[in-house]
Amino acid sequence: MNRRAVILGAPGAGKGTQAQRVCADQGLVHLSTGDLLRGAVKAGSPAGLAAKEHMDAGRLVPDDVVFGVLFERLAEGVSSYLLDGFPRNRAQAEELDRRLEAAGESLDVVVEVAVPDERLVARITGRRICKACGRNHHVEFMPPKVEGVCDACGGELYRRDDDTEEVVAERLKIYHEQTAPLIAYYTERGLLVQVDGDRPVDEVTDGVVAALTAAVGGGT
Ligand code: AP5
Repeated sequence: MNRRAVILGAPGAGKGTQAQRVCADQGLVHLSTGDLLRGAVKAGSPAGLAAKEHMDAGRLVPDDVVFGVLFERLAEGVSSYLLDGFPRNRAQAEELDRRLEAAGESLDVVVEVAVPDERLVARITGRRICKACGRNHHVEFMPPKVEGVCDACGGELYRRDDDTEEVVAERLKIYHEQTAPLIAYYTERGLLVQVDGDRPVDEVTDGVVAALTAAVGGGT
């Protein structure tokens, strides 16, 4: 059975961390539009060139560019997935609905990871990511065993260009203006499950797994 879910939340709420923890066990492919766009920037593709200035400034990348990278990836035959960072505004949510409906499909659940704003800046500015495998760490909250080295694969850890206090402020503003209204959008459709993300990582994972399992069944 194919399963389709969204993980929604503010920048730094823990969407990527939770997706990395739950997807394999749940038989879901983790599809992060942020990761896809950063890959496009690194590759210097037309989508990456179009995205870079928006990402560096903390603004949303134009919808057509995001649709391009995401739907190209989905067309590679991904059928059960967890979308992370998409949709990000009403136009993207409606486009997703339209494409799913055209294919005779629908979303199973939207999991909102809820964290108060005052916690988010510290989470983001302390984040360190593995260059090799993409695993998230945090200098204070999830410190690597060896400074600067990934616990999972030994790769080098780096800080994202948009993880500065200044850019985070813009990302949070955009989240509240454009993305947070999707909580009501999905609540009205009976799809939203809220998980308290202001808890230790393992507890948040339990909440996300419970939400996914209740909606779509666990594992493959
Ligand atoms: P994107 O990559 O999607 O970034 P984001 O939404 O801002 O989210 P983050 O990746 O910053 O946070 P997260 O919730 O995944 O938190 P994480 O798990 O890492 O987007 C980047 C940019 O790309 C956008 O600004 C935009 O320009 C563009 N873009 C992407 N998608 C787009 C779209 N659909 N449309 C238009 N533009 C788009 O956790 C953060 C830190 O906290 C980590 O260090 C982690 O270790 C730590 N942590 C996690 N959980 C906990 C916990 N429970 N307790 C303590 N620490 C924790």
